[in-house]
Amino acid sequence: MILLIAEACSEKTNHQKEGTEKISKTDSIIDSLINSMSIEQKIGQMTQINIDVISKGEVYKLKSPHEIDSLKLDVAVNKYYVGSVLNAAGYPFSRQHWEKIITTIQKKATSQGSKIPIIYGIDAIHGANYTVGATLFPQQIALAATWNPNVVENAASITAYDVSASGIPWNFSPVLDLARQPLWGRFYETFGEDVYLAKTMGKAFVNGYQGNDAKHPHKVAACLKHYVGYSFPLSGKDRTPAWIPNRVLKEYFLPTFKTAVEEGAMSIMVNSGEVNGIPVHASHELLTKVLRDELGFKGVVLTDWEDIIKLYKDHHIASNMKEAVHLAINAGIDMSMTPNDYSFNDALIELVKEGKIKETRLDESVRRILIMKQKLGLFETPFPNFNEYPDFGSEKHISQSLNAAKEAITLVKNESILPLSIEKKILVTGPGANSLNYMNGGWTHTWQGDETIYNTPGKNTIQESLKLLSPNVTYMEGSSLDSNINTAETLKEAENHDVVIICLAEDPAAEGPADINSLDFPKAQQNLVRELHKAGKPIVVVTTTARPRILREIEPFMNAILIGYLPGDEGGTAIAETIFGLNNPSGKLPFTYPKYQGLNITYDHKHTEKTNRFLGQTSSLSDYDAKFKGTVYQWNFGYGLSYSSFEYSELKLDKKSYAKSDTIKIEVTLTNNSDIEGSEVVQAFCSDLVASITPSVKRLRSFKKIKLKPNENKRVKLKIPVKELAFVGIENKWIVESGDFTLSVGDLMTNFSVNE
Ligand code: BGC
Repeated sequence: MILLIAEACSEKTNHQKEGTEKISKTDSIIDSLINSMSIEQKIGQMTQINIDVISKGEVYKLKSPHEIDSLKLDVAVNKYYVGSVLNAAGYPFSRQHWEKIITTIQKKATSQGSKIPIIYGIDAIHGANYTVGATLFPQQIALAATWNPNVVENAASITAYDVSASGIPWNFSPVLDLARQPLWGRFYETFGEDVYLAKTMGKAFVNGYQGNDAKHPHKVAACLKHYVGYSFPLSGKDRTPAWIPNRVLKEYFLPTFKTAVEEGAMSIMVNSGEVNGIPVHASHELLTKVLRDELGFKGVVLTDWEDIIKLYKDHHIASNMKEAVHLAINAGIDMSMTPNDYSFNDALIELVKEGKIKETRLDESVRRILIMKQKLGLFETPFPNFNEYPDFGSEKHISQSLNAAKEAITLVKNESILPLSIEKKILVTGPGANSLNYMNGGWTHTWQGDETIYNTPGKNTIQESLKLLSPNVTYMEGSSLDSNINTAETLKEAENHDVVIICLAEDPAAEGPADINSLDFPKAQQNLVRELHKAGKPIVVVTTTARPRILREIEPFMNAILIGYLPGDEGGTAIAETIFGLNNPSGKLPFTYPKYQGLNITYDHKHTEKTNRFLGQTSSLSDYDAKFKGTVYQWNFGYGLSYSSFEYSELKLDKKSYAKSDTIKIEVTLTNNSDIEGSEVVQAFCSDLVASITPSVKRLRSFKKIKLKPNENKRVKLKIPVKELAFVGIENKWIVESGDFTLSVGDLMTNFSVNE
């Protein structure tokens, strides 16, 4: 049977144009395969276990060096017919080791048990971080700050290459949750707070991973996470309840997934938390009615880590595993990541045998899983081919990561300090100055990203990179993340230098351990800035943090500020090049940078009396209004400076009034009024002036990154389909309302109207 599928699949590749006929032939072979499978084999396909379960040693205490345990593999393949395995053993493997593992697993899986290849999945969320020597990229939040979908697609494409080079066909990425709660530990894994930016980048990522044909040996299946509402827990803690009105869910949290589904994403992972009181793993409404029926998703729905077990252990909506499995399967789960045991299989077998779940329901999920395996070419080539990846870890790939980091770096303050001349005597200090881990964050070689022994050899920290470019750089530690070290000595040293660079940072961490209780920088780091200010030298601050950390009180001591996000292995080079003017910053904030811990507001907030006042948008400012003006945020979403000086002029629309089926065509002239080549992100924001529900003050509707030579100008064209102005109205349905709008690009503004 497997042979037949492999033949049918390869026939398809040879005769792509006759696709439909061949696909249906493959489909019917998949159907016959399903018909030949036992209940146990079908349930096995729906099971994903962690590599620990088939490795020597106990779960979470694997023996080192890592080895597959053939007896345990035998149980997985011949007793439970497992369809999928995930993860590394807590540290990165060499490509050779990956090849050995995957080959061992596939040899067994294709010759014994169900004789169906296993699909291996991994979290390669900023490069193939569990493979030694792979290229690490900036984290997603930094990629979003590039505002350059080409850079983002490239990063995904190289990640797919490196993941494939490890013999793995499935990547649990991208994260398409919107970052609207910075205390939440996974903020940095997202593309930021805005729907349009995140959906544009999400689309680029899916393309980079899957390409036109995921069967290509350099491509992998994407897995969109974490469907849906995961990023907005009220408490700010990971996996705690989110309360999101349906209208908001639809207008803000679903579109990123919708766009990626339309782009052909092959799988989706479910939110471990609950939305509006219902754990998403048990929500038929979200997993079937919305995801399948409304968004039209045809791929595989995977649970997150032990989340069916958690329905009874943590959420208390079931009293045992069997009830939990019943709820999840009825809700629409296809594959269970029950990483540490076979409790899912045992429970589901009982449920089917008792007639509580129909075998035809299993068939639906198994079909989706087998189709994904078929689309990835696993039936034809289940084994890794070590020699197909000459560019693995190549300079060509590394330069793309460096470019991404350079395009991400965001200059938010510059009192004519940057770029620095290499003649200047520079003191560099602060916890971020000498750590690769603080630039990479979580999910770097280990889950938490905090073990230095696995760092990529030969990569330079910020202080090392500065020293490579200038002989006049001195480094002193000054402070750890949360305690001052030699601060007094560092101050003394500062007095002998022309400029002080202070690198502020955050502990690398992932998931729950990355949640924090306060956005303030630890006292020690704030103290370092205050103390060094006493030297009376210009201060340049570089932050490499997983989210915006409050700078309000220390910002006045800083003469220039560069936001580095988590720029990855090439971050040191990118930051040093930016400081010395070898890179002209062009990143823009993908989130609203908060000023106060307690004022969590996104740029696209609704009009309210208070926000209008605080933004100074009322026509006359009373004393009360004036008191609050400027308190809303430190820097707005989309903000970022350059060493060039850009000017916008002649903003024109092709019409003054549009039909709902029209596309708005925008033209604006962008001029580089400086003698430095630079890039600017032209952003188009629309404001609906009156709507049937309170409109947002503004929404990003289009953008384009433009490079200009010194003193060059360009006529830049942007397009906004009028249907993009839709919102979710009173009836909870998407509508475009006629009426008046403003459009702003740079500091220019114009009006238009939409007609019936
Ligand atoms: C995370 C997922 C990840 C999975 C597998 C979970 O704890 O929430 O994002 O893909 O583990 O490692």
